Amino acid sequence: MKKHVIAIYPGSFDPLTNGHLDLIHRGAKLFDELIVAILDNPDKDPLFSPVERREMLEAMTAHYDNVRVEKFDGLLVDFAKSVHANVIVRGIRAISDYEYELQMALMNHKLDPHIDTVFMPSAEAYSYVSSRLVKGIARLGGPVHGFVPAIVEERLHRKLNGHARRNRLAVQQSGNNKGTRKKQNKTTGKPTKTRS
Ligand code: PNS
Repeated sequence: MKKHVIAIYPGSFDPLTNGHLDLIHRGAKLFDELIVAILDNPDKDPLFSPVERREMLEAMTAHYDNVRVEKFDGLLVDFAKSVHANVIVRGIRAISDYEYELQMALMNHKLDPHIDTVFMPSAEAYSYVSSRLVKGIARLGGPVHGFVPAIVEERLHRKLNGHARRNRLAVQQSGNNKGTRKKQNKTTGKPTKTRS
């Protein structure tokens, strides 16, 4: 009897990259069901909220009938059990990823021996693309086209332009205040008398 294999593809997806999408595309062909699981961990101080990350992932995976997107917090193995998944999919871009990924895979297997991790090599074209680098480039106003889907590119610009504008206004504001603020006596805080 053919087994029905449910796999989860967990990650921060902050934001989703074309490398992630490639893995989802290949995973959807390999497994009967693929659940993209977004880690909802405020300690990581994400740029995009879990709701925003989910919206972008759902928009980009809506055409797969065996892929769905969910959020999780707590232990990955507990989430896997709750959705009856026994495969965890993780992408490996370079050998440097491998050490950390192997450690996680072994630990997850120790925590729940029913769960195995399948490593998939990232597509060569995206082997150097990461969410962290994409955010760094976008923050400095660089181009991220080709690294992320258009919806992510647009939202990155919207979010980061907003930040940049607010920062510029704050700097302007403090500059204006400097010009109008009277010099104060360091001890009393009262305006000092200036010679005219
Ligand atoms: O995209 P990321 O940030 O590399 O994904 C890391 C993720 C979400 C797979 C990992 O942090 C995780 O599984 N977190 C859940 C907490 C957990 O189960 N920790 C024990 C792992 S051995």
